[in-house]
Amino acid sequence: MKTSVAILVFLSFCACASRQDFQEKQQLGYIRSGETWLDTDEAPIESHAGGFLYRDGIYYWYGENHAKGFYNKTGISCYSSTDLINWKNEGIVMPRDSFPLLYRSYTNDEVIPEGCSNNGVAERPKVIYNEKTKKYVMWVHLDADGYVFSTAGVAVSDSPVGPFTFLKEFRPVKYRYSGIDDENGDKERTLLIDEKGKGNTYRDMNLFVDDDGKAYVFYASENNATLYIVRLNDQYTDIERPLKENENWARALPFGYREAPAPFKHKGKYYMITSGLTGWTPNPAQYHVADHILGPWKTVGDPCIGPESESTFHSQSTFVLPVEGKPEGSFIFMADRWNGHKLENSRFVWLPFIIGDDSEIRLEYFTEWNWDVFDQVADMPSPPHVKLNLDKVLTWQSVKGANAYRIYKNGEYVAVTSNTQYVLPEELAGKAYNFTVMAMKLNGQSSLPSKPVTVSWEEVGDVFLSDVKPDRWAQHWGFLRYDRALENGPLNVAGQVFEKGFGTHAPGEIVYRTCGKYSRLKGYCGVDNYASFDDVSSIGFKIIGDGKILFETDVMRVNTPAAAFDVDVAGISELKLITTDGGDGTHLDHADWCDVYLVK
Ligand code: DGJ
Repeated sequence: MKTSVAILVFLSFCACASRQDFQEKQQLGYIRSGETWLDTDEAPIESHAGGFLYRDGIYYWYGENHAKGFYNKTGISCYSSTDLINWKNEGIVMPRDSFPLLYRSYTNDEVIPEGCSNNGVAERPKVIYNEKTKKYVMWVHLDADGYVFSTAGVAVSDSPVGPFTFLKEFRPVKYRYSGIDDENGDKERTLLIDEKGKGNTYRDMNLFVDDDGKAYVFYASENNATLYIVRLNDQYTDIERPLKENENWARALPFGYREAPAPFKHKGKYYMITSGLTGWTPNPAQYHVADHILGPWKTVGDPCIGPESESTFHSQSTFVLPVEGKPEGSFIFMADRWNGHKLENSRFVWLPFIIGDDSEIRLEYFTEWNWDVFDQVADMPSPPHVKLNLDKVLTWQSVKGANAYRIYKNGEYVAVTSNTQYVLPEELAGKAYNFTVMAMKLNGQSSLPSKPVTVSWEEVGDVFLSDVKPDRWAQHWGFLRYDRALENGPLNVAGQVFEKGFGTHAPGEIVYRTCGKYSRLKGYCGVDNYASFDDVSSIGFKIIGDGKILFETDVMRVNTPAAAFDVDVAGISELKLITTDGGDGTHLDHADWCDVYLVK
């Protein structure tokens, strides 16, 4: 067999294997966040920043279609399902060409019509049903040219599966606020946004229909400084007029800089999960509570618990859906795991949660789960009895009533699983840790911890550093990425692509205790070509072993080829990979450490 044929056979085997696995799990009703979700035609679901509508036993999922990449090149997708697992593609219910020219975008092989920005977006579409007019009403954030237009778009349809007809675009509220209206001192952009002339900006949005049939739009306004909540008219096609602050509209969380609002209601209280503002890169979520929909809204804190909670498990909120047919208080948090390099490769994160008597939201990362998690058992689970297998796998027998198990490493919460085993991740030689396991229920109840199991890593082998979690890391902005660049694309230094390594943001450091067990550290470093559109990135790279400089580069820029290193680390117990801002500020200092590995 020729190599290329062999590769093809191998790749199609891999694709089939994972597809089969996906389908088997799908049949069992499992949700697996972060994977490619297939529709009933076995095509990947393309519906980002989605909104959900439940009507007559059917769920409809509306979202941005990014099959052709960035911008509004296709329009708004719709999928339907009776079980939230098997999704039928209902097609593009609001095609690109139904939007005003400014908010469209065209592929390279299309002719761009005059008046089209060719970078228009139609983001975060949401659809609600109006009982009086019997119409389905869509609201969407329309924009172009770096988000300076920031406008609401409204469309209607007689059917949930479209076609939707565009009605109008507008900025709903004109309000003279004082405070910060000049994003990072960027006067030119403030002029383009023109909040004083056109009205207040309209960006990340959501819709919510209250029990009395009144509907509200939630959106990021005041150039993203403040969330607005505005009551809609009886048809849901406009805002209620005339506007009266705190009667039919309100400024929520003034100068809180929150976006991606996902509002919902439980036992008469209003809740909202939001994200911070970091583009396509994740950040910590917050949740807010109010007794009245127009507020005052109180920020409670981060709903996410456990490992990766600081990045909302690498996702950003889009919707909170109450689960039909399960006990009151059962919800799904729905979010997007954006791929800021290729939007079409963004994935979905859905996590179950239950609001109990304490009114708290607790989101934990379940790699897979099914609807059984919502069925509560009254008993407090007893602690698991944990055993260590020879091949570094912790196992235990399932605990009655538990929905999941938390794993603690030296007392630090490092993982959660719905299975009864945990494969210990690779560690550097010379390390030893105590592991305990705690059974937990979705409502926040947990068992006592198991007895600790001590595991040590004695064997020395060559190891890619990015396969092992560092002892600590810190960086100017964002989160340390493993085998990815900071913005979630491949590690790429001046066109050279690497599969292994770290994407980080200078200045920063990544620290490993190596316990004197390795002989050499090899790899490459350089500026990630994410910022190749500009020449502002400049970074210095340095490797320090037990306080001594082992390797140092001159300032590297976006087109500087990757610098190779191969340094002696014999006897060294602590290694630091350090990046500096190159002496001229941190703007776009996306740094890559590539193919970094320790030799025994
Ligand atoms: C974050 C928003 O939540 C997304 O909807 C999108 O507008 C990106 N920013 C664009 O950077």
